[in-house]
Amino acid sequence: MLKDVPSSVLIVGSGVFGLSTAYNLAQRPEFKDTKVTVLDRLDFPAHDAASIDSSRIVRPDYPDAAYSKLAAQAQKLWRGDFGAEGRYSESGLAILLDDEDSKLGRAYMEGSLRNVSLKLGLKQGPRSEGGQVTVLDDEEAIKGVVKNMSGHIGKLGYVNWTSGWAHAENAMLHLRRLVEATNRVSFQRGEVAHLLFSPSPSSPTVSGVVLNDASELRANLTILATGAWTPRLLDLRGIASASGQILAYIDLTPSEQEKLGGNPCMLNESSGMFIIPPANNVLKVARHGYGYANPTTIPHPERPGTGETITVSLPRTKTDDPHLNIPAEGDRACRDFLKRCIPELGDRPWTHTRICWYTDTPSSDWLIDYHPTYSGLFVATGGSGHGYKFLPVIGERIAEVLMEETRDELSEELRRKWSWPKEKFRTEHVWTDDWRGGAKGMILDEELKKS
Ligand SMILES: Cc1cc2nc3c(=O)[nH]c(=O)nc-3n(C[C@H](O)[C@H](O)[C@H](O)COP(=O)(O)OP(=O)(O)OC[C@H]3O[C@@H](n4cnc5c(N)ncnc54)[C@H](O)[C@@H]3O)c2cc1C
Ligand SMILES: *[C@@H]1O[C@H](CO)[C@@H](O)[C@H](O)[C@H]1NC(C)=O
Ligand SMILES: *[C@@H]1O[C@H](CO)[C@@H](O)[C@H](O)[C@H]1NC(C)=O
Ligand SMILES: *[C@@H]1O[C@H](CO)[C@@H](O)[C@H](O)[C@H]1NC(C)=O
Ligand SMILES: *[C@@H]1O[C@H](CO)[C@@H](O)[C@H](O)[C@H]1NC(C)=O
Ligand SMILES: *[C@@H]1O[C@H](CO)[C@@H](O)[C@H](O)[C@H]1NC(C)=O
Repeated sequence: MLKDVPSSVLIVGSGVFGLSTAYNLAQRPEFKDTKVTVLDRLDFPAHDAASIDSSRIVRPDYPDAAYSKLAAQAQKLWRGDFGAEGRYSESGLAILLDDEDSKLGRAYMEGSLRNVSLKLGLKQGPRSEGGQVTVLDDEEAIKGVVKNMSGHIGKLGYVNWTSGWAHAENAMLHLRRLVEATNRVSFQRGEVAHLLFSPSPSSPTVSGVVLNDASELRANLTILATGAWTPRLLDLRGIASASGQILAYIDLTPSEQEKLGGNPCMLNESSGMFIIPPANNVLKVARHGYGYANPTTIPHPERPGTGETITVSLPRTKTDDPHLNIPAEGDRACRDFLKRCIPELGDRPWTHTRICWYTDTPSSDWLIDYHPTYSGLFVATGGSGHGYKFLPVIGERIAEVLMEETRDELSEELRRKWSWPKEKFRTEHVWTDDWRGGAKGMILDEELKKS
């Protein structure tokens, strides 16, 4: 079934989800008379948005077949024009373990890993011989692929040479240029205070947004792609929550860059800690963790003006507090990982640190659907810390859901995965469990107080 084409669309949020949607709509002939506006609270690129950073890992090996297929489609494009000019580097991704690491044991490594690769027809062996996956049986093998680091980087693991990383900000700038070149989308700056709800209780409708200065922007269809800030605009308790993730950066000398720059990304799957190979003399250490919750009491987003409040986790970033750094707990985790892997850089001070916000859902499936209550409202969020790699293809998939189109088998599967949940998480705050590192249940304020 094809949905009616709205005469105006307002996309709120210019991250991966919003900007890619704008690009797809701008290319659709049936939208040629539709006014498409992209609104963001900050000028592009918004430096505290999840989509803007020096790097994001691009790794297609999901246990879930649908994301795997979609990632493979994205990767084809990353390897082409979309990833040109250094926007994508196929550096490989090394998953490294110690004997004592519990989640993935030696059995998994030696058994299922080999089988998985063989089944998929991936060529095993050293990269120099065209191998796509290299199994690393001991420390020496690891040092043979993760080079010029004197520390202890693991006892076993594997490198998937078909993975890599994207320069997140540069690829977003590239997409922005593509959108601008269509001449179909207007960009506006402004922060949405709340949605514009119709007064009629019998047919609840969203007919646009109200900005902080009380001005209104009306549209036949409003698409919320506001990432981790979405729980400020919709009641998503038990559906999606913002979780703060830690990033820390050091500067390198050109010779250090030369030494380390050719390495694969390194990921410890039990602690969630990872290092992205340095580019432009900057090295990044980070953690894929349960993250920090930042409970904040706000006016009930769906009952503005009533005085009713709710408490939800929302991002706090350098835009709110220029002196905000990662808490001591996270600083220590990054420092220990750096010291352990590259002791020669272990005491190098961070040039800066950052808390970056995931929009976590219970299953880590995204939330891409019409709102079940309000007509005129569509939501595209819930990235759960793994949305970036899909940048080249996510917009057309979002638009498929929007237009209720079925292009292939994947369309149906994705629509099911991304649909509005029938059940809520057992607590109002969502903690996602996909091999996250760090402690579960940390509260940002409490951790900052310990710092
Ligand atoms: C630290 C970190 C590491 C990650 N690593 C990876 C990785 O290695 N691989 C991977 O695939 N993915 C990764 N991800 C996930 C990926 O980056 C996200 O899934 C994706 O960027 C989310 O995009 P988004 O459009 O939902 O959100 P965002 O990029 O945050 O965009 C939301 C936009 O909405 C705007 N906005 C919010 N509220 C309002 C308002 N009220 N009014 C107007 N505008 C508003 C914001 O300014 C922002 O620009 C990572 C994420 C983080 C945070
Ligand atoms: C390596 O990546 C490919 C896709 O590029 C994936 O199909 C495969 O499962 C991955 N192998 C392992 C062992 O992770
Ligand atoms: C790997 O394949 C072999 C031979 O088919 C099989 O005996 C073994 O159980 C498999 N191991 C795992 C962990 O799947
Ligand atoms: C990975 O992290 C775990 C937990 O912190 C630690 O015990 C292990 O030694 C680390 N392994 C590597 C290879 O860094
Ligand atoms: C779109 O909105 C405008 C004004 O907000 C309204 O006049 C028009 O009827 C709407 N069109 C559709 C197709 O809903
Ligand atoms: C290791 O260092 C040498 C000398 O600086 C450099 O040529 C080589 O590319 C480095 N290897 C990697 C994997 O970065």
